[in-house]
Amino acid sequence: MTEWQKSNWRDLPRVQMPDYTDEAALNAVEAQLSKYPPLVFAGEARNLKTHIAAAGRGEAFVLQGGDCAEAFDQFSADAIRDTFKVMLQMAMVLTYGAKVPVVKVGRMAGQFAKPRSAPTEVVEGVELPSYRGDIINELAFTPEARIPDPKKMLQAYTQAAATLNLLRAFSQGGYADVHQVHQWTLGFTDGNGAEKYRDMANRITDTLDFIKAAGVSGAQAHALQVVDFFTSHESLLLEYEEALCRLDSTSGKWLAGSGHMIWIGDRTRQPDGAHVEFARGVLNPVGLKCGPTTTAEDLKVLMQKLNPSNEEGKLTLIARFGAGKVAEHLPRLIKAVQEEGANVTWVCDPMHGNTIKSATGYKTRPFDSVLKEVRDFFAVHGAEGTVPGGVHFEMTGQDVTECTGGVRDVTEEDLSDRYHTACDPRLNASQSLELAFLVAEELTQLRLANAEAANG
Ligand code: PEP
Ligand code: CO
Repeated sequence: MTEWQKSNWRDLPRVQMPDYTDEAALNAVEAQLSKYPPLVFAGEARNLKTHIAAAGRGEAFVLQGGDCAEAFDQFSADAIRDTFKVMLQMAMVLTYGAKVPVVKVGRMAGQFAKPRSAPTEVVEGVELPSYRGDIINELAFTPEARIPDPKKMLQAYTQAAATLNLLRAFSQGGYADVHQVHQWTLGFTDGNGAEKYRDMANRITDTLDFIKAAGVSGAQAHALQVVDFFTSHESLLLEYEEALCRLDSTSGKWLAGSGHMIWIGDRTRQPDGAHVEFARGVLNPVGLKCGPTTTAEDLKVLMQKLNPSNEEGKLTLIARFGAGKVAEHLPRLIKAVQEEGANVTWVCDPMHGNTIKSATGYKTRPFDSVLKEVRDFFAVHGAEGTVPGGVHFEMTGQDVTECTGGVRDVTEEDLSDRYHTACDPRLNASQSLELAFLVAEELTQLRLANAEAANG
């Protein structure tokens, strides 16, 4: 294989990327971004890799979540705080319920570019290029709005930097202190999930009182006051990714400076394509979406390319088959992994295989399908004796009505009330929390089954 360079992807076939018409403007933006500071540092990416490695061994659990597409017009401190807060709540449910450390990874601070199922969109007989995320063009259905504008990369960078700044402040500055477990209760999470959460928060507070009374202090107490929170996004717009790529002087390796973890989408994982070429050279942990069309042969080539030294925590396989299809596809891919003796961390994305169009015309996902895919994922890993290492959700802390179902039962008629996503439908805060309790149950059952097996 030729020596990797951050620009080598340019010589390879690319899909799902915009054709910028103004080359001078594109070059100017790339030159500017190349001079900006990276958003993350190599030590952080390495740290995330060790956490993901632990999840791959069943010693931790990955919770990856956030918007399908971050949007410029929905950028606010409250929105960031609310998604962060729901993720903390979910992590608490998983840690307390299933007794497992949770690796928190936001689909945040860079999740702007979107692959689309069709290059154009037709509305009332008018055909325009598809919307590809705010970093590329605009959602408004006019010819001007749909022209890709490289300057949007600068706005995306600024928003990502400000988002990450706030996330770092929340993580380290006291907001994520476990003693705040009651304060994280969102006003609108009523119903079953909220009640269960408050019960659990009471028990945690009790435990914390005990810990304090027992005299635990110093570094151990500090560990309860801060969290590690990482960022991730699909590495789709390679001009942006390349411009933020930096050489890590400590290791002499290249860092994707745009986020802690990057992933390759289901539509851009061609083994000889541009996206795989870019991702194979960076030191960050890399995710690879695996769908019904992922063949065992391709997976083997991709694992070899993306993780040639078989490093633990380097490669996360994000399974997204659809409810009812997991049993058909996951075992054959697990087999491919085993045949290669490859180290991977399996994560379940129960969102992207379960998108349907509601009778009311909205793209949605039924909560029950999301849950079924998660359960099937656990069942297959249970049967194969492999490790379900985490979950990957499209979710928001906002009280949106985008996915149907859940204890507060969002109906197809409700979807129009608060449908705000720029792309795919997200779980709202209450649905996310409910799902966390259900995932905790799956994890607990798995732990008990493993303990029983170990005791013969
Ligand atoms: C996504 O994660 O938003 C996405 C487009 O997923 P996939 O590539 O799995 O379809
Ligand atoms: Co999506």
